[in-house]
Amino acid sequence: MAKIVIDAELCKHCGRCVQVCPEVLFFQPEKGTVPEVRYGECLACGHCVVLCPSEAICHEDFLPGSIHPVHPEMQPSAEQVLELLRTRRSVREFRNQPVSKEAIAKILEGARFAPSAHNSESTQFVVVQDRATIAQIVQLTVDYLRKLIQQLRNPITRRILRWMAGKELEGAIANLHNLAKVVATYDNGTDTVLYQTPTLILFHADRKVGFAGVNANLAVQNAALMVEVLGLGCFYTGFVVAVCDRDNRIAKLVNLPEDHKIYGGLAVGYPKFNYRNWIERKPARIQWVEAAEKTS
Ligand SMILES: Cc1cc2nc3c(=O)[nH]c(=O)nc-3n(C[C@H](O)[C@H](O)[C@H](O)COP(=O)(O)O)c2cc1C
Repeated sequence: MAKIVIDAELCKHCGRCVQVCPEVLFFQPEKGTVPEVRYGECLACGHCVVLCPSEAICHEDFLPGSIHPVHPEMQPSAEQVLELLRTRRSVREFRNQPVSKEAIAKILEGARFAPSAHNSESTQFVVVQDRATIAQIVQLTVDYLRKLIQQLRNPITRRILRWMAGKELEGAIANLHNLAKVVATYDNGTDTVLYQTPTLILFHADRKVGFAGVNANLAVQNAALMVEVLGLGCFYTGFVVAVCDRDNRIAKLVNLPEDHKIYGGLAVGYPKFNYRNWIERKPARIQWVEAAEKTS
């Protein structure tokens, strides 16, 4: 349990910390006493620290220097956020220009602030900028897809794989023609796995951590939005991620720890083209669940 100390002189007994964290903090029944650090497990989320109006809470994980003021005037408006979300596009055509380490650092600075289950902050990053390694990752992906296509086209191995993987394989079966297209295009000299990206960011985590995959993919989306505002472009490297789900050769190539798995990936570079317009999407399909109106 993290050490939390509440300064009795600074505490104004407003109760905000107890409301935001009833699992750990507890108001003692006698009025005028500071909340007690009682039970439960502190996630080190820092809510109590940043909410306290009198800075009375000292938490060993958030020492001075790790607490920063919020600047409401810097928050984008809803319209600005919507503009960003509507105009973000997958970019697959990149200029032959490297992405600087400073830009990558900003992208990952955004990524590391994504929420994570139990505040595990489980996601880690591998940044591949070596063209030869990127080419090897494409090769390993295509090799795996080629093998999978052969197995799925053979009725016996297809049945065995279906029995072993169950519903998970249905997507690959339905998508077989697309997988075959990627392999055939590669054989003809064009890479439609990573599209000659100058940078590949892989999002990985210890597979034992709960929700590790969800955490990683939330970090991917934070990163993708940072990419956009930096004037860069990216696309989600689905083929690479899908192969990493079943085959550990890419993880080995980039020296991941044994128990880590790659859950997400972004190919990042400077876009060759700029989109002038954005297009409509399906309207949000919403089912409202509301209390039934009382009829008397
Ligand atoms: C899980 C996932 C996997 C994806 N895999 C690929 C991929 O392997 N290659 C690719 O070029 N785009 C991939 N994409 C990008 C989608 O094709 C793209 O998001 C979609 O066509 C919508 O276009 P937009 O991103 O420009 O809005 C993937 C996206 C997601 C969310």
